[in-house]
Amino acid sequence: MEDRFGRRINYLRVSVTDRCNLRCLYCMPPEGVTAKPREEILRLEEILRVAQVALQLGITRFRLTGGEPLLRKGVISLIRSLALLPGVEDLAVTTNGTLLARLGRQLLDTGVKRVNVSLDTLNPDKFRRITRGGDFRQVWDGIVEALKLGFQPVKINTVALRDYNGGEWVDFARLTLEYPLHVRFIELMPVGTSWKLAGGSFVPCGEVQSAIEQELGELRPVADLQGGGPAKYYALPGAKGTIGFIHAMSGHFCASCNRLRLTADGKIRPCLHDQHEVDIRSAIRSGAGDEELKALFYQALALKPASCHAAMDASSSGSGRGMCQIGG
Ligand code: GTP
Ligand code: 5AD
Ligand code: SF4
Repeated sequence: MEDRFGRRINYLRVSVTDRCNLRCLYCMPPEGVTAKPREEILRLEEILRVAQVALQLGITRFRLTGGEPLLRKGVISLIRSLALLPGVEDLAVTTNGTLLARLGRQLLDTGVKRVNVSLDTLNPDKFRRITRGGDFRQVWDGIVEALKLGFQPVKINTVALRDYNGGEWVDFARLTLEYPLHVRFIELMPVGTSWKLAGGSFVPCGEVQSAIEQELGELRPVADLQGGGPAKYYALPGAKGTIGFIHAMSGHFCASCNRLRLTADGKIRPCLHDQHEVDIRSAIRSGAGDEELKALFYQALALKPASCHAAMDASSSGSGRGMCQIGG
């Protein structure tokens, strides 16, 4: 599938729930987000149906997101079914890690080979503050378990936030010396409204890289890691893992964007920052055939903007959906 700007679209990010057991301060308001009523959320077989149609259109890579995807009842059997669909070349999960220690084995047995885990600090007190009550140990144990089980690669997503993890970027980088972890620093993006709470802590990735290089020496660029995302990867000499940067604000990676999104409530969303969505849930529930569902994908494709930057200005006004509803 190619969009009108010649970009090849082969990646679908599938949000399987808008619920989360953490409330990261840049993602959710203090009181959390009211989850959508159950009937508005795609059923597992509906998600599978969308994936089957996407495969027919040449989408071969899938990533499950949330909220927290591992909270969704039946998610393991969904992933198992997805992994068995002919043509699936890459199936991965982005998780907050809280349930990884418990579900890692079952997840690996589904055929998922790689996980991305969000972790913004290595300090339990700060972790509690950033996630509004989360337990650092639970997530760290989940990461260690993922490594032990043999997920490969295990990527860590760290949103760079000056006032919250400003003193820890070098510690995160050092993790790659000790563990085969791929630590990615992400620039805070204006999505929904909650990011504003952390907005003053925005740090461009270049600054994180300089801080690391000042302390640990020059980072050597390495070939892209397995994945379909926009991160640029580097390594420290002798490291077991890599350090990645996702220049979500200072970079311009829209030209190579390869993805569409499916929200938990069944909308195809062409761009993280653009509020346009195409309702596929209603079509499925009114008995649409595959050709009609494919037409909705093409409709979404036609809405995909050349770049997210104009859309970002509009979404930063806060009228749009939050990250936990879109899936990152
Ligand atoms: P892989 O490269 O396949 O491992 O995944 P990824 O890095 O694309 O996925 P992940 O869910 O781990 O996302 C990491 C960060 O990149 C999150 O903050 C996402 O919101 C952000 N991100 C993912 N896709 C896009 C995109 O299309 N545009 C922008 N601006 N940010 C994105
Ligand atoms: N900007 C950048 N990254 C964000 N994430 C959530 N909200 C934002 C934001 N506003 C990250 C999470 C998770 C990934 C899916 O997206 O930390 O790692
Ligand atoms: Fe949950 Fe991820 Fe949002 Fe944190 S960033 S509240 S872990 S969905």
